[in-house]
Amino acid sequence: MTETQTFLPRHHKEFDLDGIAPWGRRLDEYDAYFALTDLPVGTRLLDIGGGPSSFAAEAPARGFSVTAVDPIYAFDGQAIASQFENTAKAMREGMRAASYRFNWAFYGSEPLVHQRRRAALELFLADFAMHGASRYIAGALPQLPCGDGSFDVALISHLLFLYGDELDGAFHLASMREALRIAGEVRVFPLINLDGRPSSHLPVVMRALEADGHDAELVPVDFEFQIGATKMLRVRRG
Ligand SMILES: C[S@@+](CC[C@H](N)C(=O)[O-])C[C@H]1O[C@@H](n2cnc3c(N)ncnc32)[C@H](O)[C@@H]1O
Repeated sequence: MTETQTFLPRHHKEFDLDGIAPWGRRLDEYDAYFALTDLPVGTRLLDIGGGPSSFAAEAPARGFSVTAVDPIYAFDGQAIASQFENTAKAMREGMRAASYRFNWAFYGSEPLVHQRRRAALELFLADFAMHGASRYIAGALPQLPCGDGSFDVALISHLLFLYGDELDGAFHLASMREALRIAGEVRVFPLINLDGRPSSHLPVVMRALEADGHDAELVPVDFEFQIGATKMLRVRRG
């Protein structure tokens, strides 16, 4: 071992997930991450990597028109529910092991987070069964089956930057450009990775998008769960 390596902090992998986890959030959480209250009724939203989130099921009651896109929508509800079960144990263990890296003010405790994820899954499954491909499109970044400018705002929650170890910088940039082809504005949260470190992809992606002529900014949000994840990325098409 070299002298430099001796002084580097040891890397603890608390979340032992097999890839990108299908773990879904609720409307009030999306509200908090993305400050959706500033969007007018009728806004056409695309939830990229929506997974088993209940956002697309719950948001129409607020006047938003929501479509979600995710590779897991190629599967049926039963298969998605079983992927959720496979993930839940590792997620729960990870959250407990990394408990010191979270601010528990919003959720209270790990069992309450788990309860929410299950409630989101149930709402999603019922809506997925009712609306199928008219609301839930099977597709994967960096190329989505959506027309140019077919949405006003695209939301990307808990996919880009968070899974920055699985997805490289080129994938991040191509995915952001793809989202901006489809929507005039793209919002992304969180911007730190699963280990709680700021994403090294973020500054590179922001600079490249600015060079493309887009307007990229970091917007503070009134929410913190992963400690330090207090900003969303908002990019407006230039
Ligand atoms: C942690 S979940 C987040 C779900 C939801 N956005 C939320 O915050 O509740 C990540 C989702 O990204 C999806 N995903 C993985 N690779 C993807 C890709 N290349 N393009 C779009 N979605 C992807 C997964 O299937 C999974 O449902």
